[in-house]
Amino acid sequence: MIQVLDKTFEPYISRDEIQTQIDRLAEELTQDFAGKNPLFVAVLNGSFMFASDLFKAIKFNAEICFIKLASYKGTKSSGQVVSAIGLDISLKDRHVIVIEDIVDTGRTLTHFLPELENQQPASLKMCVLLHKPDAMVFPVQLDYIGFTIPNRFVVGYGLDYDGYGRNIPDIYQLAE
Ligand code: IMP
Repeated sequence: MIQVLDKTFEPYISRDEIQTQIDRLAEELTQDFAGKNPLFVAVLNGSFMFASDLFKAIKFNAEICFIKLASYKGTKSSGQVVSAIGLDISLKDRHVIVIEDIVDTGRTLTHFLPELENQQPASLKMCVLLHKPDAMVFPVQLDYIGFTIPNRFVVGYGLDYDGYGRNIPDIYQLAE
């Protein structure tokens, strides 16, 4: 058991299990993108460890860039607008793979993917380490998934609880 701020977490996914799934994802990506010089777009902060380990496992030519998402209230009643900060490479006619740490409700991606599609990439795929299908409210197509997990809060391996716990090398889940 570990303590992060006021909450207790128990071991859930070890670094070895993470690496095994990363190697599998890298193989799938190799089959689909080797020779196509794809561009990986990693979403900070949560994905920094996953992006680093996944990119090391990729042995074909590829580029990577890191972005942050800023959300603000849009003028439409539908609300939120999410825009990317730091996207300094054109996506036009590129094969783009978005790297996310976790997809929970899907809200973030639903609001952000159209901004990428506007740039007319040759293809646009999603690669996520963790997916909580039971929490999904805004359905998003996820093309490469590390782990499908139940709807319980997790920390470690880049994921935080209120800013802390990102440096834990394994993934822990909230103790019941
Ligand atoms: P969504 O927009 O609801 O899909 O949420 C995505 C974001 O919420 C992720 O990029 C994380 O930053 C955060 N998040 C969702 N679930 C967890 C969790 O279990 N642990 C840590 N962060 C989470």
